[in-house]
Order: sequence, then C-alpha cells, then structure tokens
Amino acid sequence: MSTSVIIPAAGSGVRLGEDRPKAFVDVGGATVLARTVGSITGAPGLDVDRIVVVVPGELVERTRAELPEADCEIVVVAGGAERSDSVRAGLAHSTGEFVLVHDAARPFTPSAVFARVVAALRAGHPAVVPGLPVVDTLKKTDSDGGVVVTVDRAELRAIQTPQGFHADALVRAYAGDGDVATDDAGLAERAGIPVVVVDGDPDAFKITTPWDLRLARAMAKGWD
Ligand code: C5P
Repeated sequence: MSTSVIIPAAGSGVRLGEDRPKAFVDVGGATVLARTVGSITGAPGLDVDRIVVVVPGELVERTRAELPEADCEIVVVAGGAERSDSVRAGLAHSTGEFVLVHDAARPFTPSAVFARVVAALRAGHPAVVPGLPVVDTLKKTDSDGGVVVTVDRAELRAIQTPQGFHADALVRAYAGDGDVATDDAGLAERAGIPVVVVDGDPDAFKITTPWDLRLARAMAKGWD
C-alpha cells in the first residue's frame, strides 16, 4: 500500500522557551525536524512514498534547502495557527492509501511503533494510534485545586504519534473546516470513525518543556 507521512512542524514552541520554533531547535547537532524526518526515511520496511513537512510560512524556503536528500519525495508547505490547520494543509498534499500524521516534536520514535501502526492499517483498521498505559494516579480537580474524583487509570491511555489512517478516513475526519482537536484521531472519533490503540513507546515522547529538551539532548549523546 502506498503511504505518505504528514509531519506537522509549524508550532511556535512557546512552552519550550527557546528563541526559535520547536522543530528548528538543535538536539545534538541536528534539528528536531531533521531527526524526525531521518527516523522515517531510515525506518526499515516502512516504505514511505512521500513526506509532507508543514512548517511556519517564513521557514518554508529554508526548510526546503536544508532537509537532506531522501529516497522518497519530500514536500514542504506552510502551516496554520492551530495544529489541525497545519495537518489540514499537509493533507492537501498527501498521496496514497495510508496517511500517517507524526509530530515533528517526537524525534526518537522507534521504527517498531511505525511498524505496529502500519500493520494495524493493513489489517483493515481505518484509524490507529499508539498509546501507553498511564502510570501516575489521575485526579480530576476543580478550579481551586480541590479534588473532584480519582479517575480509574486502568481504562486510560496516553496517546502518541504516528497516528495512521486509511486516506479516506482522514479526509472525512478533517471535512469539518473549523474543527480543532489536540490529535487527529479526536477528529476521526467525532466523525464516527472507529479508532484502535496499539502499543506506543516511551522513546516516542513529545518535546514540549525545557525538561523534555534536556532529556532529548541527553538521549542524542547515546543515539548517534
Ligand atoms: O503544540 P504541540 O506540542 O502539541 O504540537 C505538536 C506538533 O504539532 C509539533 O510538532 C508542532 O510543531 C506541530 N504544530 C503545527 N502547527 C501548529 C501547532 C503545532 O504544525 N499550529
């Protein structure tokens, strides 16, 4: 099955507090984005036909010039204000029967996670997400910090990317123009598309805070 991967990389990274968008921050001699693209082009057996990288408008030309050559076609387009806007922009340039959406901010995602997502797509599931069991106890609180209830964590999963879709399912998920969600499967769920969870991996963590960036830089030392 032909597959494309959309990489949303157009976030500002305000929570990271660096002087540039998160995807363009250096982690051990390569940008977060270059590492993420490399994790896809280097994944054994993944066989991607096209990667659509979605970056802030002012960085489109620079990204085209700086991303290394790869075996598959790489298209760079401008993103939007919300993550969903960026994915929607990428979707307009994606091709093939399967489309994966993978955060640029998860540069150490193991190839086995991609393989599990694609295997479930091949098995016929229209929407597949990797997830991890939640290890901490979770409590719902009110605006004053008072505990309302302790949530049963056994039923919960922390969801990562790559999130995989049969292309028609992702198009349906994104058909509502103004829809916003923190992940792509959330839009699929709203469109009535069944979503299944496969095993994620702690290494697929998302760089969000300065602590995450320290972890990523420490991992890079043992990575290359
Ligand atoms: O903000 P958050 O960490 O959830 O972003 C996840 C991914 O979505 C990041 O790779 C980020 O660059 C991307 N994003 C985007 N366009 C936005 C916001 C986030 O491509 N407007």
